[in-house]
Amino acid sequence: MLHIIYDVFMTSASPPLYLQLADEVAAQIEAGILQPGERLPSLRDMRSRRGLSLSTVQEAFRRLEDRGLIQAKPQSGYFVSARAPRPHAGSPTLPGEVEVDPLLWSYVQDITDQFGARINSFRSVAPAPELLPLAQLQKLMADCVRHEPELLSDYGSPAGDLRLRRQIARQALEWGGQLAPERLIITHGTIEALNLALSALTRPGDVVAVESPAYFALLYCLKAHGLRAIEIPTDPEYGISVEALELATREHAIQAVILVANFSNPQGSLMPDSAKQKVADLLASRDIPLIEDDVYGEFYFGAQRPRPIKAFDQCGNVLYCASLTKNVAPGLRVGWIEAGRYQARIEVQKYISTHSTPLINQVVLARFLEDGGYARHMRKLRRKLAAQMRELASGVRRYFPAQTRFIVPQGGCVLWLELPASFDSIQFFLRARDEGIGVAPGPLFSTRGEYRHCLRLSCATPWSPQQTALLARLGALAHELLAQARPGAQAPQRVASLAL
Ligand SMILES: Cc1ncc(COP(=O)(O)O)c(C=O)c1O
Repeated sequence: MLHIIYDVFMTSASPPLYLQLADEVAAQIEAGILQPGERLPSLRDMRSRRGLSLSTVQEAFRRLEDRGLIQAKPQSGYFVSARAPRPHAGSPTLPGEVEVDPLLWSYVQDITDQFGARINSFRSVAPAPELLPLAQLQKLMADCVRHEPELLSDYGSPAGDLRLRRQIARQALEWGGQLAPERLIITHGTIEALNLALSALTRPGDVVAVESPAYFALLYCLKAHGLRAIEIPTDPEYGISVEALELATREHAIQAVILVANFSNPQGSLMPDSAKQKVADLLASRDIPLIEDDVYGEFYFGAQRPRPIKAFDQCGNVLYCASLTKNVAPGLRVGWIEAGRYQARIEVQKYISTHSTPLINQVVLARFLEDGGYARHMRKLRRKLAAQMRELASGVRRYFPAQTRFIVPQGGCVLWLELPASFDSIQFFLRARDEGIGVAPGPLFSTRGEYRHCLRLSCATPWSPQQTALLARLGALAHELLAQARPGAQAPQRVASLAL
């Protein structure tokens, strides 16, 4: 079987050879040509058969390790991971209304418990304040107020401050992005970017395809825009099923697709580059715009920032949205969109929605990026989040029922747990909330109340003995609820839907 790897013809110089090689091997693993546990050719073997340098092959293998596709075993070589991609189960749903359970809406509002204490432990996906560069931002803000008072009096242009746009464009070079500063539009966080894209591309009643499960605020946005959703099955490790997406685009008139390819919320999945390429090509060929939410792209634990689908976009079909809210300053609410061939429409939408984003917030962040503070901060933040994710995963293994299944993401800050079908995550959420512990129940992430047996935990709070104790308490609660559930029973489905 391995000969297939050698026989694949290597094409021209772009993208780099190591990525081409990594993607070819990934595609073979995905297709099941290389099976879990199977040994890969040695680095030297691969080098001489492919006529590549040793460092190119090493880098390709490193990428595959980072994606969790292969593992090195001391003295034995590289093997396809035991947890190789599963064939994607399931088909897309039919287009349907987005349901928002009033009970779940209270999740969004309840950021404090009944005693007024902040519920944060495993709930928030924004890193805790201790992990953010608040002292530097405070200094920069004070300096701006003192020396540039016009930042307080000036509306600023709808597209945003050019210094910041230049820094964002420079940052994108890390993933090979050619984001021209003049094509970026600064927004109030990613959420405004997503809403602008939806306003520009859709009309009430249109159908939009989303991952399943998907970020709940995005689902609320679809509802508020009067859109219908098709949920596409999404693998917790490898992201959206390209086959199911292809089927949905063939069978339905889809106006736009929204995806989080890098460390999705709630699953933390990371699409392989080969799948990103396929999605970019598929949607371009069908003339369906892709709204890409890359808010977690910078939260990688491996050596390299994963590329967004935007990196594979040849024709301006991807509207790329991201922000500095999660990783630097949630309170400054600064994000952006590069809207490809839809730029003019987005500019109008930005103007009529909020006119512009507060200038002082933009300039503070531009200066933070300019002076190298951002790069240093991100290196630290990634290390800390990776360590917190390890603690969280090992705590779940220790305290939760043995049937709890999860995949440890390679980045981001959420862990998606699947418990037996009789587990009721809404009861669990309410009981935990009564004890002042925050968790996110599965149905929040579905347009139709699915995933009742699933749960999202975040690792955005620094680890401490108190976190361990709270996690142990959650584990005990999960045991308790499961013991009370009738074996073989399904958790009840939801009934009401909130008008937004
Ligand atoms: C997937 C996803 N997209 C967008 C957002 C909102 O990001 P922002 O704070 O930049 O508006 C979040 C926040 O939780 C998220 O998880």
